[in-house]
Amino acid sequence: MPGLFEIFSDPEVMKFWSSEPLPDMGAAHALLAEIDDGRADGSLLQWGIATKEDDRIVGTTTLASWDRTHRRAELGFAVGRGCWGRGFGIEAVRRIVRFAFEELDLHRLEADADPRNEASIRILKKVGFTEEGFLRERYLLGGEPQDAVFLGLLRSEWNQRLEPWTRTPPPTS
Ligand SMILES: CC(C)(COP(=O)(O)OP(=O)(O)OC[C@H]1O[C@@H](n2cnc3c(N)ncnc32)[C@H](O)[C@@H]1OP(=O)(O)O)[C@@H](O)C(=O)NCCC(=O)NCCS
Repeated sequence: MPGLFEIFSDPEVMKFWSSEPLPDMGAAHALLAEIDDGRADGSLLQWGIATKEDDRIVGTTTLASWDRTHRRAELGFAVGRGCWGRGFGIEAVRRIVRFAFEELDLHRLEADADPRNEASIRILKKVGFTEEGFLRERYLLGGEPQDAVFLGLLRSEWNQRLEPWTRTPPPTS
């Protein structure tokens, strides 16, 4: 819980996020309850990113808006500021993308990022996402309009990027 609060109360982490920084521990408890509810009803899957050495939570990755009909979901991720630049973001995103395509059998992943959020866009493109659009003033953060870059990754594209012997066979149906 303190880990979650530390990450999501930091204005630098939340600078390009779609909601305001958590104001207090009460809000962190509410966030945790939201994560538990989302997992229970399948509307939100959020994992902690933990260090190998001491299992400390340093970030989270999220699959939201999981659409079973069209087999797509939205990807999100955040790493606490003290751990930026150590490869946690890219490693976690690669793992969740693999999980989304192989375990959830998704067909497509989506993400949107503030155009100024270079680190986020870099991670998404390194994993294979393609820029698909520019959404003007998609968010109002503290009353300020914020644009968004929209990115997408198809399972077929992701599969092509893997070494042949690790590729997922196409669905049988
Ligand atoms: C985006 C974020 C998760 C990156 O996490 P991270 O653990 O620092 O990222 P990594 O160390 O895995 O770095 C991944 C790549 O991004 C690059 N990168 C990291 N920070 C960067 C920055 N500020 N500007 C430009 N590139 C950056 C790294 O150099 C690396 O690329 P490389 O392997 O080619 O060198 C982190 O900055 C964060 O939590 N930001 C706030 C929340 C957020 O914006 N989430 C995304 C919402 S869509």
